[in-house]
Amino acid sequence: MTVRIGRADDVPAVLALFDVVAAEGRWIGREAPVDHDVVTERVIRCIERDDHLCLMSERDGRIVGNLVLQPDGHGRTEVGMLFGPDARGQGLGTEILTAAVDWARNQPELFKVVLDVWPHNAAGLALYRKVGFQVEGYLHRHWRRQSGELWDVVVMGLPLAP
Ligand SMILES: CC(C)(COP(=O)(O)OP(=O)(O)OC[C@H]1O[C@@H](n2cnc3c(N)ncnc32)[C@H](O)[C@@H]1OP(=O)(O)O)[C@@H](O)C(=O)NCCC(=O)NCCS
Repeated sequence: MTVRIGRADDVPAVLALFDVVAAEGRWIGREAPVDHDVVTERVIRCIERDDHLCLMSERDGRIVGNLVLQPDGHGRTEVGMLFGPDARGQGLGTEILTAAVDWARNQPELFKVVLDVWPHNAAGLALYRKVGFQVEGYLHRHWRRQSGELWDVVVMGLPLAP
């Protein structure tokens, strides 16, 4: 298993990951059918810009996970990450998120890593707590799904500076 910086030729594999995870309908904000142009634009931006980060988790030459860090221009950077169903629960999320937080600690302009997670995402909550994130807020009926359901959102943060 390898964690490495993303490249432009990884984009098709990342799109395939988004398609699989979005089709599960439980873990990420994007829903099927995933807008490939929007995801491609975001991944390419994270690859090309020095203040963004795009990491790939690779196993046996195949991309099984992706993580991006996107700064908001005010000292915070937001995590987005996903693994396919066959790659979860094996420590790969811990490995890639730890690498991303280490990178963020070396960016002088950043002071905090932030993320949103659904309250039913037990693996996500466990991973983020393990890496040092704390729950900072709970937003009730905050995210509208295509079905019309309104889902709650847990807001988590990890301060980088003392
Ligand atoms: C959420 C996700 C990124 C976590 O990554 P992962 O590789 O599965 O997590 P890890 O294997 O590194 O496990 C991290 C911790 O979570 C715990 N954990 C893993 N799966 C779990 C589960 N289903 N329920 C409860 N805890 C779980 C592990 O035990 C581990 O803690 P430990 O080392 O103390 O035992 C991954 O499962 C995933 O991509 N899920 C689908 C997409 C998604 O939810 N993305 C994030 C949206 S906010």
